[in-house]
Amino acid sequence: RKTAPLPSDIRAMKGQTPIVSLTAYTTPMARMVDAHCDFALVGDSVGMVLHGLTSTTGVTMEMMILHGQAVARGLSKAMMVIDMPFGTYEESPAQAMRNAVRLMRETGAAAVKLEGGAHMAETIAFLTARGVPVMAHIGLTPQSVGTLGGYKVQGRGHGARLLSEDARAIAEAGAFAVVIEKVPAGLADRITADIAIPTIGIGASAGCDGQVLVVDDMLGLFTAFKPKFVKRYATLGEDGEAAIAAYAAEVRARKFPAPEHTFAEEAPGA
Ligand code: KIV
Ligand code: NA
Repeated sequence: RKTAPLPSDIRAMKGQTPIVSLTAYTTPMARMVDAHCDFALVGDSVGMVLHGLTSTTGVTMEMMILHGQAVARGLSKAMMVIDMPFGTYEESPAQAMRNAVRLMRETGAAAVKLEGGAHMAETIAFLTARGVPVMAHIGLTPQSVGTLGGYKVQGRGHGARLLSEDARAIAEAGAFAVVIEKVPAGLADRITADIAIPTIGIGASAGCDGQVLVVDDMLGLFTAFKPKFVKRYATLGEDGEAAIAAYAAEVRARKFPAPEHTFAEEAPGA
């Protein structure tokens, strides 16, 4: 693919080919993700992964805009989706519209993502009718950690029926895709079969229409904790720490810089 897909293209991938996505928060990471992913998500996980916050509830519009602008500079083939931060869309459809437009206008994102099921359906319909493509996010919704009581598996027992109803409500409201986080695999498969829009799994099922991970998690760069659903495809954090230790030892031993890293007083060829 030469140009970025549109939200309608992502939607049309359901039943055709798996949708590949990772988060990105910076230009260099966006460049790495761009070649291999259908969309890059500027997730509000940036608050925990890059800013050291203990949850995503402290993330602001200003943080999302700054990271969204950086990611946009690194993308040419992948679509960009940006998270709406906690407190910027829940009050009313009008509040959501105002902030979604600001995120899209100031970053160039093709779509916004917001957390919530049936209770957000009215807002999703409002935005969609007014030109804002919406990706929904159900199951474990980290912005609700306070009321969910931790980062637990969602949709077990009685929760399964509620989650299926959430999925149906947001699909009918016009969302073009839905992230399903940390739910039993069988339930994710049933929802995927039940709704007309793509399900993007994280801690869900290989049967979802697509997958997303936090890129720093799968690269082994973010190591403060590791959810079960994260597979580490690299150990960049460990490798980086070893490199920093090697640098520190060489500086202390006056082995770095070596002659090839220094400059002669005479310019070469002068
Ligand atoms: O913020 C984020 O990174 C996310 C994904 C994990 C889906 O919402
Ligand atoms: Na998020």
